[in-house]
Amino acid sequence: MKKYLHIIMCMLMVSVLSYGQEKSIEQKIETMLSKMTVREKVGQLNQLDGRGMHGSIAELKELVRKGEVGSLMNITDPNVVNEIQEVACKESVTGIPLIFTRDVVHGFKTMLPIPLGQAATFNPDIVKGGARVAAIEATEHGIRWAFAPMIDITRDARWGRIAESFGEDTYLTAEMAVAVVKGFQGENLAHPQSMAACLKHFIGYGATEGGRDYNATYIPERQLREVHMPPFQIAIDAGAASVMTSFNDNDGTPISGNKHLLRDILRNEWNFDGVVLSDWGSVTEMIKHGFAEDRKHAAEIAIKAGIDMEMSSKSFIQYLEKLIDEGRVAGTILDDAVRNVLRLKYRLGLFEQPYTDIQKPTETYASHHLEIAKKMAEESVVLLKNDNHTLPLSTEIKSILITGPLADAPHDQLGTWTMDGEPETTQTPAKAIAAMYGNDVNVHVVPSLMYSRDRNQVRFEEVLYAARSVDAVVVFVGEEAILSGEAHSLAGLHLQGAQSELIKVLKTTGKPLVTIVMAGRPLTIGKEIEQSDAVLYAWHPGTMGGPALADILFGKAIPSGKLPVTFPKEVGQIPIYYNHKNTGRPAKGDEKSLDEIPLNAKQSVLGHSSYYLDIGSKPLYPFGYGLSYTTFEYADLKILNEKLGKEDTLSITVKVKNTGLYDGTEIVQLYVTDLVGSVTRPVKELKAFERVNVKKGEEKTVSFIIPVADLAFWNMEMRKIVEPGKFKLTVGTNSETGIETYFEVV
Ligand code: NOJ
Repeated sequence: MKKYLHIIMCMLMVSVLSYGQEKSIEQKIETMLSKMTVREKVGQLNQLDGRGMHGSIAELKELVRKGEVGSLMNITDPNVVNEIQEVACKESVTGIPLIFTRDVVHGFKTMLPIPLGQAATFNPDIVKGGARVAAIEATEHGIRWAFAPMIDITRDARWGRIAESFGEDTYLTAEMAVAVVKGFQGENLAHPQSMAACLKHFIGYGATEGGRDYNATYIPERQLREVHMPPFQIAIDAGAASVMTSFNDNDGTPISGNKHLLRDILRNEWNFDGVVLSDWGSVTEMIKHGFAEDRKHAAEIAIKAGIDMEMSSKSFIQYLEKLIDEGRVAGTILDDAVRNVLRLKYRLGLFEQPYTDIQKPTETYASHHLEIAKKMAEESVVLLKNDNHTLPLSTEIKSILITGPLADAPHDQLGTWTMDGEPETTQTPAKAIAAMYGNDVNVHVVPSLMYSRDRNQVRFEEVLYAARSVDAVVVFVGEEAILSGEAHSLAGLHLQGAQSELIKVLKTTGKPLVTIVMAGRPLTIGKEIEQSDAVLYAWHPGTMGGPALADILFGKAIPSGKLPVTFPKEVGQIPIYYNHKNTGRPAKGDEKSLDEIPLNAKQSVLGHSSYYLDIGSKPLYPFGYGLSYTTFEYADLKILNEKLGKEDTLSITVKVKNTGLYDGTEIVQLYVTDLVGSVTRPVKELKAFERVNVKKGEEKTVSFIIPVADLAFWNMEMRKIVEPGKFKLTVGTNSETGIETYFEVV
């Protein structure tokens, strides 16, 4: 009892202290604000790029001196950061420090797997650890504000930015969002190694029509609230310091001009008091959208809608003063925006400690950073196929051929958004396998295609010759980094260049063929998978991808990753995602395929269900899919209380047995189906998951605790409610396979 009293006292002290700190921050903001001119206030809302497009460093310093800049992007030399900061603090009219920002999307120098790969770990702890590594390295270079995590939900692999996302699921994305926020921001945002997170892109950008970047979206508010918004709200509750608005026009309103979303929901409903930042040019792009007449009008719309700081397009600094003079924008609106910016600067401790400590010994590329990057890469790899226990490579295998365009591609394996990543530090599979396992097997590295789009097959003969002389072939295919990311959408998701031909010719040798795919998105590779004996999906695995894959190939690490996104068979199936609605005529699975339809068949032969005549209703692989070198069996799914009230908590247990030959890790997934609702509900929704390590032959009981409140949805009146009724619970190894039970909310 005494111990608990002590804990409660401590918690009270902490909240009283932080309340006190926040109160004094608010007082300081008011004092600061009362001394500022309108021009100086507007200056705080101006974010400029430091790479030359907004002037030389000398010119930027001059703007800083005049108080016309609030934040600078993309300067990563800490000496330059300090120089400019000194101008802001000591020579500028306001003396207000700047915030230096950067896209730290999946690591700073030590590159982690792309976010889509991070999501495949289903391991928020390691993702948090990776974000901490990124924050330590970035802050060392002067960066205190990262434009990440990107938490757009996307169900379209054509969209190049799927690589930057955590995939298609709202719950998984929210877990990862919180992990990144905590990793970046640490215990205390004011610590010099903490970096403010920026949740992006608010909102709905991942639903861009046709997967074409920057395109319009048509998301009704219920879907916005159920699918796209929860990761933002949950990460804000976890303390996220800022939010970036998205480029898309949703149902007729560009988000950067949407007052309902930015003020009514983000500010008033969610009580967000951090900074709302526009995306690059998203304010003035409202002119091209046909929503603003000119730059002045764009500035007026954006500030009124709730944008605090404008990234790069400079319409605020150009027009806000005039708009206020003319009475088109109220001074109180400007003051609120400035309060939000100053609050972030106080929270970051910039007024006390504006400079980067350049004397501190560097931690960039520290061995424990590389270790986390390797572990994360290992956990992100998804084993899609493993016929005849091809993997791990047996001790009988004495020689292997390593080939394919991604085998030794130090730049490409880092993936998209690697502004500070350095290919010269990348450890590629070709090098790592030879270095780590070269004593156990003969490793022959023979180049075949020079890059993923390469069509030139001149080296195939030599590769074939080498393949015939080894015991197994490992081919690395996929996408160059440039093929995913911003503005890099694709209409076709097949392997580019002559990669399919390469797999086809390697198959003719009859040697065990292991295909490893490094890509920024799901690819439609059913045919290539068929031709391979084993397939590992490694995304773009980052700096340590090579050693991670080497250990997986040779069984030192056992794959445990699961797909954070549904893999389509064909592009024509998109959008395809596991938590879809059922339709009135769901596919049964026994529908006839094209080849089975008799000539001149009557319509009735085909039945009437929701599927494609040519490829059926199933994806290539479902969400949550991923094999291990071992196997797991699920049994004894139990719910403690099968009838629950709305305030209750579900207590669930399930037994998971390792029935295979290796110790392994299983990601146990729990899905809930609300069987009847006043608004139709998805066929199932992920509500929890757990990574469990199970030794071979061992059985573990896994427990889940889920508040009934988590089953709520937005009803016709747009109220979030839990409706009484029956629910199905499925626990299993992916979103398609599992054991079931039922419960009732009364
Ligand atoms: C545009 C991108 O949409 C955004 O994600 C990024 O943070 C900014 N550019 C800054 O580079």
